[in-house]
Amino acid sequence: MDSQLAGEHAPELPGKAASLWLETAPATDYPALAARLAVDVVVIGGGIAGLSAASLLKEAGRTVAVLEAGRILQGVTGQTTAKVTSQHGLIYDRLLHQVGEAKARAYAEANQAAIELIQNTVNARHIDCNFERTESYTYAESATEVEKLHREVEAAVRLGLPASFVETTPLPFPVQGAIRFENQAQFHPVKYLQALARGIEGDGSHVFENSAALSVVAGEPCGVTTAHGSITARDVILATHYPFNDHSLYALRLSPYRNYLLGLRLDGPAPRGMFIDTQRRHSLRVHGSGPDEIVLAVGEGHPVGEGGDTRAHYQRLEQWARSVLPVASVEYHWSTQDHRSIDGVPYIGRASPLHGHVHVATGFGGWGMSNGTVAGLLLRDRILGRENPRAEVFDPVRLNLAGAPEFGRHLLTVARHWVGDRLNLRSPVVARGKGEVVSTAEGHVAVYRDEAGVAHALSATCTHMGCLVQWNSAETSWDCPCHGSRFGIDGRILHGPAQKPLAPRALPDDAGSKPAG
Ligand code: FES
Repeated sequence: MDSQLAGEHAPELPGKAASLWLETAPATDYPALAARLAVDVVVIGGGIAGLSAASLLKEAGRTVAVLEAGRILQGVTGQTTAKVTSQHGLIYDRLLHQVGEAKARAYAEANQAAIELIQNTVNARHIDCNFERTESYTYAESATEVEKLHREVEAAVRLGLPASFVETTPLPFPVQGAIRFENQAQFHPVKYLQALARGIEGDGSHVFENSAALSVVAGEPCGVTTAHGSITARDVILATHYPFNDHSLYALRLSPYRNYLLGLRLDGPAPRGMFIDTQRRHSLRVHGSGPDEIVLAVGEGHPVGEGGDTRAHYQRLEQWARSVLPVASVEYHWSTQDHRSIDGVPYIGRASPLHGHVHVATGFGGWGMSNGTVAGLLLRDRILGRENPRAEVFDPVRLNLAGAPEFGRHLLTVARHWVGDRLNLRSPVVARGKGEVVSTAEGHVAVYRDEAGVAHALSATCTHMGCLVQWNSAETSWDCPCHGSRFGIDGRILHGPAQKPLAPRALPDDAGSKPAG
């Protein structure tokens, strides 16, 4: 999958349009699949969930083949904040009430185990990836939030987590209170996972890039085809961020969400630790030290396709960062995207009740470093036939009535976009530097006019399930609000679940033939 920064034309935004992680790690160059192979497990998706699972399965003696549509780690994993923590905002008090103590404890323990696994792997393989233990804080700036913090601490402590309530933090501004989790971690995710990928290759196991899976046939064995090859395997893992084959209504059970990141140099010391606030969801963490020190500021997120002028989100994030930190310069800006499950717990396990050998990992809700590693552990055990008492809470086909209201909300959102966006089309006149979906005799056309006045026209109908795409001004891309597919101005896929590009269209007269603006 191409980098989400493929719409890299953002001249008015400060800093380089690039992820810190991808800028500071070497490029990869694995071959494309061009043969027929047989392995024990095919892993579709070269992000943290897929590579963690593949690495653990290889360690357990299985042969694996990782198939990545673009280059490994260029998707969501390469755009993360890279916090490795079991502190996922305010989740444990809610989980206790929604799923009960045993399952809430399983969620907590699974994420703590993920931190330990990453540290053990870093140590055992001597991986140079800036891994360090640090504290994680969820803080409140409003007094009305403090009671929630106390409830969360009580729940977390009851579940055995290293949580406490504190009145001050290392942040350079006052807070009303915070939850501190001890001994959490952070790292350079791309360096860590490139090391895992290197360990996967060899002895009958493979990593393939530029090898998009075109079909998965469940069976015994399962079959996976790409444009120039095919693989048979006993088991298939779908770790493509959004399930590749949607047999279990994931389209209705996952909501896509975008977030914005800035890499900052400070004129002064950076607060050590990882921080997120309870209301505006602003997040901070520092990476590196000395002249290489970069502070990541994250926030101003929104559901995909609902951000309006997306450049404004970066600008608001920069304003906030400058209001709380001595910012000397903005070095990087990039955005990321993740899916939320309807009950806040990822879907990890059997992809559907019908297919015992097709497995899925998705819905990490912005906590993909720990939950992606949890996925590796759970899927390894599932494929090896090992009982794992933590698996049940993540079961993708669970029935959780507590998530019913969120399910209904997402259903309405998709319906609103599918129908409402068609009734709400804008003027066919498209100004320079803007994108609009316009209605023409041939249907709905997504028109972007570049700064030189040249218009680029595509079908506006998302190739996944037919919603209309929306313009993303900051990334210069077309984003689908229903399930998060994203396309470049040439129609190519930047982000699934879509598997086909947007088709070129003739230019509508008003939008294309007359330069506007
Ligand atoms: Fe599903 Fe567009 S309709 S991503």
